[in-house]
Amino acid sequence: MCARKFFVGGNFKMNGSLAQIKGIVDGLNSADLNQNAEVVISPPALYLAYTKDLLKDGKNKNIEVAAQNVFNKGNGAFTGEISVSQLSDLGINWVILGHSERRQILGESDEFIASKTKAAIDGGLQVIWCCGEPLEIREAGTTTDYVTKQIAALAKVLSPEDWTKVVIAYEPIWAIGTGKVATTQQAQDTHKDLREWLAKNVSEKVANETRILYGGSVTDENSKELATQPDVDGFLVGGASLKPAFIKIVNSA
Ligand code: PGA
Repeated sequence: MCARKFFVGGNFKMNGSLAQIKGIVDGLNSADLNQNAEVVISPPALYLAYTKDLLKDGKNKNIEVAAQNVFNKGNGAFTGEISVSQLSDLGINWVILGHSERRQILGESDEFIASKTKAAIDGGLQVIWCCGEPLEIREAGTTTDYVTKQIAALAKVLSPEDWTKVVIAYEPIWAIGTGKVATTQQAQDTHKDLREWLAKNVSEKVANETRILYGGSVTDENSKELATQPDVDGFLVGGASLKPAFIKIVNSA
């Protein structure tokens, strides 16, 4: 098995102001961060350039910036959208796609998310691609079927090489923003199922090399134990990414 580099994403969602983002980035810029971790923070689109600019004065060179969305078409008449080439123009190398808030609130389908992921990768971006089940699916015991259907839609459009640009985030919807974290065993089991699906349906190499993050109420209190699991390669952090606790989460591997 290859060593997968520990990865922590911070998804600010629709939070933050100039002053708040400066506070968060100043904290990261002066922190003693685990240099073996890859760190990607994701402010709202309006603040992408600002965040990137603030990071350049920091001592941690392992922090990158991600957009929270991108469209699947090139520049043109798509009011309100942002293109892959516009992100690249700003030096933004990452994008989060398939987050459950966009799936549920904005009605994004597995296929639409897959097409945006493909467009992002074709345009040179790397993608934090999210999946995860609602509570009724977890309770019905069909989580694996649910998340493998989500990833199958993605696998349909990606080439084997495309997977080197993908980090998977498994985020059970019932754990997002609820304070109700998946147990270490639940996280490990679903990550393992996703990895086995990749081995069977894409390749052994992709299964071994693709990072699978856990997301959903990750804090500096639960991250250490979750990080001990063989198939948990890091975290996608929402609420706690706005707080100093994020630094401890990055350092929890
Ligand atoms: P949370 O969000 O950490 O606030 O639960 C995680 C996410 O939505 O990525």
